[in-house]
Amino acid sequence: MNHWNALSDRYDRVKDRSISDLFMMPERAHQFAAQAGDMYFDFSKTNIDTDTLDALIALARDRNVEGRRDAMFAGARINETEDRAVLHTALRNIDGAPVMLDGKDVMEEVQSSLKSMRSFADDVRSAGYTDVVNIGIGGSDLGPAMAVAALAPYHDGPRCHFVSNVDGADIADKLRGLDAKTTLVIVASKTFTTIETMTNARTARAWMQDHGGDPKRQFAALSTSADKTAAFGIDPAYVFGFEDWVGGRYSVWGPIGLSLMIAIGPKAFDAFLRGGQAMDTHFRVAKLEENLPVLLALVGIWHNQICDYATRAVLPYDERLNLLPNYLQQLEMESNGKGVMRDGEDSPRNTGPVVWGAAGTNGQHAFYQLIHQGTRVIPCEFLLAAQGHESELAHHHQLLVANCLAQSKALMQGRSLEQARVIAASHGFKDAELERQARHRVFPGNRPSTTLLYPQLDPFTLGQIIALYEHRVFVEGVILDILSFDQWGVELGKELATSLQPVVDGEKDPSTEDPSTAALIEFIHRHRD
Ligand code: F6P
Repeated sequence: MNHWNALSDRYDRVKDRSISDLFMMPERAHQFAAQAGDMYFDFSKTNIDTDTLDALIALARDRNVEGRRDAMFAGARINETEDRAVLHTALRNIDGAPVMLDGKDVMEEVQSSLKSMRSFADDVRSAGYTDVVNIGIGGSDLGPAMAVAALAPYHDGPRCHFVSNVDGADIADKLRGLDAKTTLVIVASKTFTTIETMTNARTARAWMQDHGGDPKRQFAALSTSADKTAAFGIDPAYVFGFEDWVGGRYSVWGPIGLSLMIAIGPKAFDAFLRGGQAMDTHFRVAKLEENLPVLLALVGIWHNQICDYATRAVLPYDERLNLLPNYLQQLEMESNGKGVMRDGEDSPRNTGPVVWGAAGTNGQHAFYQLIHQGTRVIPCEFLLAAQGHESELAHHHQLLVANCLAQSKALMQGRSLEQARVIAASHGFKDAELERQARHRVFPGNRPSTTLLYPQLDPFTLGQIIALYEHRVFVEGVILDILSFDQWGVELGKELATSLQPVVDGEKDPSTEDPSTAALIEFIHRHRD
């Protein structure tokens, strides 16, 4: 029997048992937890037992996770449809050990790029700039925007703003109130062709010209395309290039992270890189059974492919990680949202899950109702720091911790009808009404969750967290036999937007479009000035 079938059979046998009962095994809490440095991952509140974990590990071994991992670090062209290596890990290889690609060590280039970023960041931080506006989208926005928000206590540079949406509301709202003479604009685009980014960059340039700034001195670019940045008119001294072996959604570690470096300073940025590097080392050397990215991936495979839970909620009990769910949406859904396998054949199983979430405790007052009592099971992934940064508000953090732990406990334990009857009776309900009221107060429980703990959200820890998720996505992709590093699924919409442009502009007849699109365009034409 193959590993997938063995796991499905196992699920059929254990699906109705109680997760709480698994804790009759005294060592469970420790046995179903693992540590990388000072980061602690608890997956004991799931229906995974020793046999299931063994079967999942066997699946990972059979899928050659270790071999594929080593191939990635060794510069193999594992992004096969784009014929590219995948070496974002070299960007955080801060100790500079050689990383070979086609017989050449890429580290010399990486270190020289890091050096020019540091010197530029220092200049910007001391030159009287008040604001930095990063214009980018997808990986050229989500990584730095998430990391800048996450590391707010470490900010000692200019304020950073992020413009991504082509909706004019985004740039208008972000530029309003800024002084064009003391603002630096960073145009972040790997390809330097992305329509949203280029449109926003042109608008920012016009704004700067009109408001007394000097785009020649106050525009920088982050891109793999020196030709295109030059054609846009950006001084080559302010262009920070990188290679095509850095995927957009994996690019925060290099030039795309420039706004983060300006916000927190080169030293703290180094600590961020060191955190990523520490997770790389762990991923490369830890046994599969103790390997955090592998364990996260296996829990994901169990819930998504075997238990058939279609979504995964990411719930950071850390306000400054409120953009983490958005960041992980791109990382996971753009990487593993594919329908065909490596050989081009259709995948026989569901691939990447829908990833969503929000910071706790806010989510508790919005969608946790469905998580606790809805008809769908949603595996929850909690993240929590042992301590916050606001030592004068320590009681807030204690409350946050209690809430986070309470949620995973409630999901597992639930509340029985018996318990609910006692509550309903305490409210004075009787007989049939007591029964009816009690049923509304039942929590099915037995809902799985995991918890990732870390001491404090500092630059090193953030580096560990991001690298952990990157490798988790990689391992899931290998197990699903998916090519995780391309994103062909974003192409068609872009092409159709280009061809629809003249129709929307009124230069082409809408009736050549499908009837629904034509009707929508006609409505828009009728209702605009
Ligand atoms: O959404 C598609 C995509 O190519 C992402 O993968 C990428 O992060 C984003 O667009 C932005 O691309 P660029 O950095 O080239 O502007």
